[in-house]
Amino acid sequence: MYLSKPLKMKNGSLSAIVYTGTSVQSEKLGKKWIIRKQFWISNEGELFESSSSEAPTGNVKSGNIGNNGFYATFTASAKDGLLVCNLSDAITEMDSLYYERCGTCHRAYDPDMYTAAHWKKILESMKTLSGISQQEETEIMRYLSLLAKRKD
Ligand code: HEC
Repeated sequence: MYLSKPLKMKNGSLSAIVYTGTSVQSEKLGKKWIIRKQFWISNEGELFESSSSEAPTGNVKSGNIGNNGFYATFTASAKDGLLVCNLSDAITEMDSLYYERCGTCHRAYDPDMYTAAHWKKILESMKTLSGISQQEETEIMRYLSLLAKRKD
């Protein structure tokens, strides 16, 4: 299953978002989904202060913070609609940002044309040309890497 909306989680003063498109283990308990996931949140990329008030909150069950990042297991209960079976269904809402920002001067290229590493280089050069913000770059990179070609 994949998260179709970002999930906010908290551990003391730290808060982080588990992004849309993340695959999670889940089971249905009554009417609610229970989501379990163990993952790394690196300091560079995945951990940041949450600003989204719409994101449902997940409880971090256990976790520890080291120099390299934050390793956590979280369990959260979620409403229907937060989880979908396919990755492509999970990220439909991210499509529009990509098409708006990257499909005006030329067609929006298929994400699976390139590997994530290749997209990262392309975004470096397209960043200035297209005038996207840092936040948009992060989101577009996230979108592209989820759908990117797996290897050269
Ligand atoms: C302001 C116009 C403009 C916008 C907006 C724009 N591009 Fe481009 N893009 C270009 C131009 C011009 C080229 C061809 C020249 C070049 O490669 O620098 C190009 C080329 C490309 C190529 C082909 C490069 C290659 O090596 O084959 C890719 C892929 C690409 N853009 C992706 C993107 C992505 C992703 C975005 C969104 C972040 C984006 N572009 C936004 C103008 C734009």
